[in-house]
Amino acid sequence: MRPSVMRSAAQLLRRRNYSSASGQQARKVAILGAAGGIGQPLSLLMKLNPLVSSLSLYDIAATPGVAADVSHINSPALVKGFMADDQLAEALDGADLVIIPAGVPRKPGMTRDDLFNINAGIVKNLCTAIAKYCPNALVNMISNPVNSTVPIAAEVFKKAGTYDEKRLFGVTTLDVVRARTFYAGKANVDVNTVDVPVVGGHAGITILPLFSQATPSTNALSAEEIKALTKRTQEGGTEVVEAKAGKGSATLSMAYAGAVFGDACLKGLNGVPDIVECSYVQSTVTELPFFASKVHACFAMCVVYCSCYLSDFIM
Ligand code: NAD
Ligand code: LMR
Repeated sequence: MRPSVMRSAAQLLRRRNYSSASGQQARKVAILGAAGGIGQPLSLLMKLNPLVSSLSLYDIAATPGVAADVSHINSPALVKGFMADDQLAEALDGADLVIIPAGVPRKPGMTRDDLFNINAGIVKNLCTAIAKYCPNALVNMISNPVNSTVPIAAEVFKKAGTYDEKRLFGVTTLDVVRARTFYAGKANVDVNTVDVPVVGGHAGITILPLFSQATPSTNALSAEEIKALTKRTQEGGTEVVEAKAGKGSATLSMAYAGAVFGDACLKGLNGVPDIVECSYVQSTVTELPFFASKVHACFAMCVVYCSCYLSDFIM
């Protein structure tokens, strides 16, 4: 093929938001808090995701090192590191998906609500920037307390006039990951085949694993065992905080869960059908304004390249 023809094909692909390397739609993912305990392994996992063409790593400290390190992995995503406020605009510009693990984690004896004062401010500032620089991005909120940081994000977006409830997700996937693991162990079934919906919220007794709807179903578990599984899932975060004894909360399992949820969002954006994950979203399922339940990410293709999301609750 003549170079000029190749160039114009490449330009066309770029204009159409396609990555010429993979034939996939080009997707930019930004991770805010990328140098933290969750941020680093999450950056690694998103770098490995073939749906990501551009990976933007932002933190208030240490991002150049993390970005340089992750960028050497031989996967297609192009990695760039950004540090401090004046680089936030560029980090977010054109992002399709923003994942937020920025903020302080718990220490033993603390509740997630004890993080509110610090993390609310961090989330507010980051969401203000998202509203300005990538108002159409999907937002995956990891920062705790998720039961509050998601409503805060919603208010920031409402104030900026960019709020779309179908684009804001509290990440509760770690509760599902835990419920699957604990259930598979107790029921002695292959963990790869297990699914357990977890609804409600992401703190203590607001975490409601629905073991009655677990698949594969089993009669092998007694009511007492289900009760114990429920309690362990609700207190999974505290179990890790105590085991880490002052060195933070879940990071590796959370990075895995964040990568699973991020991947589901990218698949939804790319029009893959039947993508269903539990997430803490604006809700009419109960009288509560936000509630975690099964969310169906489906895609409606408009004439050009814009996409719309429908978050449906399947209870
Ligand atoms: P961490 O302290 O290891 O990392 C947090 C990172 O955020 C740090 O690198 C810090 O520099 C960065 N940061 C702080 N302010 C920032 C800002 N304004 N902009 C960008 N980055 C900023 O903490 P961690 O263990 O990674 O946990 C992060 C958050 O995730 C905590 O709030 C924790 O409670 C929460 N968490 C949520 C879940 C969940 O299931 N949703 C699970 C585990 C942890
Ligand atoms: C978790 O569930 O592991 C997180 O919410 C972190 C925490 O503080 O428990």
